[in-house]
Amino acid sequence: MDKYLLPEDDGLPARVFGAWTTEKLDYVHRYISMFETSMKEKPWRRRSYIDLYAGTGKYRAEENEDVHLGSALLALTTEHPFTHYYFVERDKDNLKVLKQRCQSATQKILFYEGDANQKVNEIVNEIIAIDKKKLPNQWSSLNLAFLDPDGLELEWETIETLAKVNKMDLIIYYSQFGLNLNLKNCYQTKSETTIDRFFGGNEWRRIFEKWKLKDSIAGIHRDLIDHYKSKLHSLGYVNVVEPETGVEPLMRTSKTKAPLYRLLFASKNELGHEFWKKVTRKDVWGQGRLL
Ligand SMILES: C[S@@+](CC[C@H](N)C(=O)[O-])C[C@H]1O[C@@H](n2cnc3c(N)ncnc32)[C@H](O)[C@@H]1O
Repeated sequence: MDKYLLPEDDGLPARVFGAWTTEKLDYVHRYISMFETSMKEKPWRRRSYIDLYAGTGKYRAEENEDVHLGSALLALTTEHPFTHYYFVERDKDNLKVLKQRCQSATQKILFYEGDANQKVNEIVNEIIAIDKKKLPNQWSSLNLAFLDPDGLELEWETIETLAKVNKMDLIIYYSQFGLNLNLKNCYQTKSETTIDRFFGGNEWRRIFEKWKLKDSIAGIHRDLIDHYKSKLHSLGYVNVVEPETGVEPLMRTSKTKAPLYRLLFASKNELGHEFWKKVTRKDVWGQGRLL
């Protein structure tokens, strides 16, 4: 394998991230491995991985400067690769670097430069068109989307668009830190805000109204996540309504242990949930996680 696809310095740019990124990507990587190992022999017409916030393909660990693979390259170099990859990135320099790193990969990769919330339409239309074709002895396409923006850039409409595809598992970055920072300001803004677009409506404002009267809003995320999950449920995603905090791992800062973000998972299939539960039972350090 060439240096661009290996977790080593290849001379190209890599953003610096903390240990929380390694933890996040370990969950995603282990889910991909389980998903691909169990699905690779089945007659899916395609198995696609969609990374709407793809980055450059590598990052540098803050604590020791080691270079690691980012989500796009982890998915590309997994033991049993997907058949198709869709990488979206808004920053043209990041996309250029990612393309360079992917140049020796033999899988089918489609790159999109632009806003994920718009490019998702092209991707979903393509997958739906493939699914519509009648092909004997072949199942529909099987898809996994990882939605990993820097903050609150993911809009609910994007989730609705992805959910039009029958078999589309989702791993969603939920920015607890970003919400904590912006809830009050957005609540005071009457016009549509980033948080309205993230939740796809203004129900979150009623939740915030209830919590803002308390001494601390630290517990608000249970209610906000349950609200988000009930919306996922209405799109056909199963098993997402119970308040199972254990399946939404929380990543924290290394020193102060302040909450940063969670990963939410959605699948229309029970097996997907079984896999996610197995994956999130342990963290990257092999420690059992407290629920
Ligand atoms: C947290 S990084 C993704 C890291 C990547 N998952 C990895 O593991 O390497 C978020 C990326 O999303 C890109 N981005 C931010 N907003 C975007 C948008 N609206 N559409 C597409 N890309 C966006 C940023 O340029 C950045 O590279």
